Amino acid sequence: MTHLEIMKFRHACKIFDENKKVGKADFDAILQAGILAPSYMGLEHWDFLIVQNKALREQIREKSWDQQQITTCSHLVVILAKIKEFKAGGTYIAEAINRRSFASEEKRASALKFYEDAISGIFKNDDEAIFHWSHAQCMFPALVMMNEAASRGIDSCPIEGFDRTALNEILGIDWNDRRVALLVPFGYRVKPQPQKIRRSIDDVVKWIE
Ligand SMILES: Cc1cc2nc3c(=O)[nH]c(=O)nc-3n(C[C@H](O)[C@H](O)[C@H](O)COP(=O)(O)O)c2cc1C
Repeated sequence: MTHLEIMKFRHACKIFDENKKVGKADFDAILQAGILAPSYMGLEHWDFLIVQNKALREQIREKSWDQQQITTCSHLVVILAKIKEFKAGGTYIAEAINRRSFASEEKRASALKFYEDAISGIFKNDDEAIFHWSHAQCMFPALVMMNEAASRGIDSCPIEGFDRTALNEILGIDWNDRRVALLVPFGYRVKPQPQKIRRSIDDVVKWIE
C-alpha cells in the first residue's frame, strides 16, 4: 500500500471481530512505530499500557460512553500523558539527555539546563499546562501506531470519549503523575468501512506566494 492508501484504509472502527486477534509480530511493529513517533524536544511524553484484562476493559467501557471497541478489540492501548516527570525535581529530563551523546560533560550539563529552564519557563510547574502539552504529544504515537496497523490490514479507533478522572482511578494512576490521554483499540473490522467524508482541498488549503 502507498501511504495515501494506508490513510484511506484507516478509519475509526466502531466494532471489532472478537474472534480475530492481532498477531505478536504485527503488534510488536505497531508498538515500535509508536516509540519512533516525534515529540517536543524528543522527550517522549508518554507511556503505553496494554489492557487485556476483561474485567478492567468492562470498567473502562462503562466510563467511556459504553463504546464497544473497548471490549471487542484484540489489543487495547492506553496512552498516558506524563506530568510529574516534567516538574521541578524530576529526573526524567536528565535521563533523556543522558541517552544522547555529547562532545563533553559541559555540553551535556548545558543542554540539560537549557531543557529544564525552557520547560519550567514555559509551563511554570503547572499541572494543567504540562498536561495539555504532553497530551498534544501523545497524538503522534497514536497516529503512527494506527497508520502502522493500517499498513498491515489492522483496524483501530482513536478514543477520547471518556471520563478521564474515572479512567485514571480505574487504572490506579495518580492524577498528578500521569493522565489518560487517549485509548487506541486495535483489531479487525466486522463491518465495511464507511465512506470518508472530508472538506475539499480547496477549502482547507490556502497558498501564500
Ligand atoms: C482525539 C480524538 C478522539 C476521538 N474520540 C473518538 C471516540 O471517542 N469514539 C469514536 O468512535 N471515535 C473517536 N474519534 C474518531 C473520529 O470521530 C474520527 O476520526 C472522525 O470522525 C473521522 O473519521 P475517520 O477516522 O473514520 O476517517 C476520535 C478522534 C480523535 C482524533
